[in-house]
Amino acid sequence: MIKRLWNWFWSPTSRYTWGAIFVVGGVAGIVFWGGFNTFMEHTNTLHFCTSCHEMSGKPYAEYKKSVHYRSASGVRAICSDCHVPKDWTAKLIRKVRATNELYHKIIGTIDTPEKFESHRLEMAERVWASMKASDSRECRNCHAYEAMDFHKQSRRSAKKMQEGLEEGKTCIDCHKGIAHKLPKGYVDEDDD
Ligand code: HEC
Ligand code: HEC
Ligand code: HEC
Ligand code: HEC
Repeated sequence: MIKRLWNWFWSPTSRYTWGAIFVVGGVAGIVFWGGFNTFMEHTNTLHFCTSCHEMSGKPYAEYKKSVHYRSASGVRAICSDCHVPKDWTAKLIRKVRATNELYHKIIGTIDTPEKFESHRLEMAERVWASMKASDSRECRNCHAYEAMDFHKQSRRSAKKMQEGLEEGKTCIDCHKGIAHKLPKGYVDEDDD
């Protein structure tokens, strides 16, 4: 039975054996998969994001002044660390959604600082909503509550955060505007 299957597998159909088709297909699949993953990695680099987000100046310039760009410890968070999930499926969903950004790039939705500013609150609200929905998952990839030494934090930090997190608040509820300036017209209700 196995032998027959084997012979069938390797016997020529018209010109190629199923085996050959299978092997070639497999190789093509691996090449495609490799290329796809390289693409996924490339689209996570700082350079890739700023290739569009530099022109309107804001997100990149402001981020460069933040502790997430340069700090005493030298640990850097790049755009994708905060904006693109690590988990494979969530990442793919975010990338597919990002094709919308391609469209807005073409029609020039945020191609001047003025346009960017007037569109900013709306964009920021989308970011906050998705961070809230994921319980600030991307922040927690680096800042684990369990790993915080509250004794080493300022009294204010330790008190506010322990209380807040126990009440079920999430990082982004209290830490908006940590990498960029807050949008004009935004009124903070959660903090303090
Ligand atoms: C092809 C150009 C382009 C590239 C590359 C690009 N963006 Fe964007 N991005 C845009 C445009 C245009 C908008 C405004 C979209 C809108 O109004 O819906 C935007 C909006 C955003 C927003 C606002 C929130 C939202 O959901 O709309 C975030 C956050 C963002 N981009 C992050 C990133 C990150 C992180 C990267 C790199 C992984 C990146 N972008 C790469 C053009 C780009
Ligand atoms: C790639 C890792 C990484 C990610 C992702 C990250 N951070 Fe940070 N964060 C850091 C590092 C490193 C510092 C600087 C520590 C130091 O001072 O040496 C920092 C500092 C901070 C500080 C205190 C310093 C300040 O003045 O702002 C806050 C608050 C903070 N992060 C909140 C957040 C929030 C909220 C998110 C999610 C939106 C986030 N972080 C995502 C690594 C990260
Ligand atoms: C209820 C509000 C609240 C929540 C929720 C909260 N924080 Fe904070 N956090 C604060 C306050 C207030 C400070 C003091 C500094 C300040 O005024 O911004 C602080 C300080 C910090 C600092 C600096 C600590 C120090 O003293 O050096 C980091 C880092 C930080 N928060 C990260 C996080 C992360 C990550 C989360 C989610 C796991 C989180 N926070 C959740 C209110 C909050
Ligand atoms: C430490 C986390 C962090 C990093 C790093 C980061 N962002 Fe953001 N980003 C945020 C948060 C949080 C918001 C929501 C608005 C706010 O609170 O400032 C945001 C908002 C945005 C927006 C919406 C417009 C606005 O200003 O609110 C854009 C566009 C954006 N980010 C792009 C980028 C790009 C491009 C980079 C890299 C150059 C980057 N971000 C790096 C956390 C981050």
